[in-house]
Order: sequence, then structure tokens, then C-alpha cells
Amino acid sequence: MNVEAPSQKTKHGEFLADYPRTGKDTPAGKLLRHYWHPVCLSEDLKDLPYPVRMLGEDLVAFRKPSGEPGLLLRRCPHRCASLEYGQIHPHGLKCSYHGWTFDSDGTCTEMPLEPEDSPMCKEVRQTWYPVQDWAGVVWGYFGEDRETPPPLPKLDILSREDGEVVLERGDVRNYNYLNFMENFADMGHVYVLHMLAPGVVPDDVAPYCDMSVNTEWRNIQHANFETGYGMKSVLVHPTDNADRRYVNTWSICFPYTYRFGGISAGLPPDFTDDRRESGGMLRIIDDESFEIIRFTLLREGNFKSTFYPRAHANARGLAEGTTGIGEKKEYDNRKYSGWEGLPPVEDLVLQESQGVIPERQYENLGSSDTGVALLRRIFRKGLAAIEKGRMPKPIEADTDGVVRTDTFKGFLSPEEIVLGAENLPSSENGAGLIRDEAGALVFTK
Ligand code: FES
Ligand SMILES: [Fe+2]
Repeated sequence: MNVEAPSQKTKHGEFLADYPRTGKDTPAGKLLRHYWHPVCLSEDLKDLPYPVRMLGEDLVAFRKPSGEPGLLLRRCPHRCASLEYGQIHPHGLKCSYHGWTFDSDGTCTEMPLEPEDSPMCKEVRQTWYPVQDWAGVVWGYFGEDRETPPPLPKLDILSREDGEVVLERGDVRNYNYLNFMENFADMGHVYVLHMLAPGVVPDDVAPYCDMSVNTEWRNIQHANFETGYGMKSVLVHPTDNADRRYVNTWSICFPYTYRFGGISAGLPPDFTDDRRESGGMLRIIDDESFEIIRFTLLREGNFKSTFYPRAHANARGLAEGTTGIGEKKEYDNRKYSGWEGLPPVEDLVLQESQGVIPERQYENLGSSDTGVALLRRIFRKGLAAIEKGRMPKPIEADTDGVVRTDTFKGFLSPEEIVLGAENLPSSENGAGLIRDEAGALVFTK
């Protein structure tokens, strides 16, 4: 195989160079602007302006006394002072320098140093973006059609009412968001990276774990499908029982949301009484950074054990300063040492090691990269649609506007396994196969 870098002047080379870009003047940045994005948590908007950088633009979010949120360009159009130091008024955000005030639709409502009859206030409009406050998250829309944005797709976990949804943010990464998304489209890495350190099953979890699931990658069936919401990756593992397969699904709601399948407490697959379902979404800051906003649905009967530390008792995530369980050798000159053994840390280290923006022209994709290739194809189709002046494929939602990703994780008989774009049985309302205390498989609803 020729491992020399292909020319970036080819169509594919051009695509790879553009693919990680987020700016509004880039094709990929334009594609991202056809979707709603998480900007901050609802609780972040109190009585002070909230500076936030999104898709390469410095913005400021705020909440008016009426409760209505707004999102404006941070730079004041008068003489460039930052509106993050502005004052929140009933009729908008007032720049603290000379008092120009802008409502959430960017219209100017006050210019106290100009004559009352000056037309200037009507002529100046601050750059603004529509926002929606839903499910504890403030969402923004950055497309050119911001006057008539598409409906906000309501992510399944965030719309669930059969438990408490815990949102957690603050995990900011200083590399391109696609390093993370491609990691999620690449289930094969689990069987190398996350098995570097042998998993030790805690004593309280051991009785619930099915150790007969075959985790030898070459024995696992691996398939990826484009779906109405994006894509999903499915693994079908053999078990000691010829009539039973262990199926695990991960879904990506295009372009930045990831969703683990099923009810789970960790790896290896276990079927405890843990009503914990999880995933997350990436707040894309710019080409070189993003923030993970994780969501976890907690239901009654949570199983408290875990395979790695959580940011706090109720969430799954990477606590500040968490490192691996590997030995830290004093002669280790690398940025990370002793990083092995904790999946979120392992993912962070390897994703970051690919480079802020990986030099993809040097890649050689193999058969385990079909999920990554599919994610890129979906991007490419979106870019092609925009280039022809068409809309990219919208996110498919049900009649209530809820996006239902495939969340299946559990055992099925070979005849029950239907591999395709349609969802396998849902984990909604906690349904799924778990093990009871005696170790017997039971289906719960
Ligand atoms: S710089 Fe904002 S009002 Fe003058
Ligand atoms: Fe991982």
C-alpha cells in the first residue's frame, strides 16, 4: 500500500481539508449552520451577560427580566466594546460604554447620547441569532435563514420524563470536534484502546456481568447505517449460547450528538439494575476547540457501582484532573503518563494525539473504519447539497419533534436481529434486558 500523502488538490483532498472547518465562510461551516447548536445551559443565564464563543464567533448570551433569552455578537457596533460587560434591561442588553441597547432580535432600542430624533437607532442592527430554551439547554441557530429557522430537533434523552436528566458541561477540549465524533463512529477502538489495561470488575458488579460475551473483534459482526437522524454503528457479539447474540448500538445524531445504547453501568456488558442511559453533545467553539455537554438519564433503582470515577455521583463523565490507573514512571516525558485504564482518559489522550486538526491526507483507512467513512460520506452529501443550492438532509423527528435514535443494547436471538436503518427495540422507559440478583436474565419495562 502506498502510504505517501495524496495530493490535497484532488476532490477528496479538498474535502478532507474543509471537513473540520467551522467558520461561516467555509463550506463545512455553512453545513453546520443548518442545525441548531447547544450554546450554554439554561441555568447559566442569570442576571449577568454570558460570553460564549460558537463556531468561531464571539457572542454574548443574556436573559431578559421577562425570562426571554437572547444571543448577540459580542462586539458592540458603536465602537467595539464588549457587550459581556453590558447591563441587562427589559428592552435588551445595554452596552456599558455609551448605552446603545439591543434587543434579542438585534434591533437597537436606545442610543442615549444621540438626539432623540436621530435616525441612527433605526439604522443600526446588531448581529443576532435566534435562541430556544428547551430541556435545560439554550440552543442557537446560526444559519442565513435565521428569520425562519427549522424546528429544533428534540433529542430523545432530553425529552424523557421517566427519570431525571442530568446535564453536565465544562469538559473543554483543545482540538477539533471531529476527532471526538470520529472516535464515536469507530467502535473498533474500544477493543484495543479500552482494553490496554485489563478491566477489573468490581466485586459488587461481578455477579451481574455476562462474561460469556465474545469480545474478540474478528468474531464480532460490525455494521454501520445511515439513518434519518444521522448514523448508527452496531456490533453483534457471539456468546457461549449459539441462540443468543449480544447486540450493542451507538448512534450519532448529526452533526454533534452521540448516544450510547441501552441501560448500562459500564464495560464489559452488564445487565444490572442500573437505569442509567447516557450520551452527550459537542458545543463547537471553533476549529480548534469544543466543549462536551454530557447528558445522563437517571431512573429509580440506580446501580451505584461504576468502572471509572464520575464527575459527580449522578453523572458519567471525566472529573477535572482525572488520570488513568497506569503506573506513572518518573522518566516519562510525555504530556500524559499513567493514562491507561480509564476509557474517558484514554479517549482524550488518543483524540488529542491526532493533532488539533489531524493531517488526514496521511491516513490509510481499513475495514474497521467503515463507521468513520460513513460519517464523512454524510458530511460530504450535505456539502454537495449546499453546493447545488439545496438544503442538507434535515434531522428526522417524530410528530412530537422528538429524535429517536437507536438505543438498543442487549441480547437477541439470531432471528430477532434485523440490521438496517430502523431502530431495534428501544430502551425507552427503562425497557431492556438486565440481570437480576440471581444472575438470571429478565426483560424489564
Ligand atoms: S461602544 Fe458600545 S455604546 Fe459605545
Ligand atoms: Fe472510547
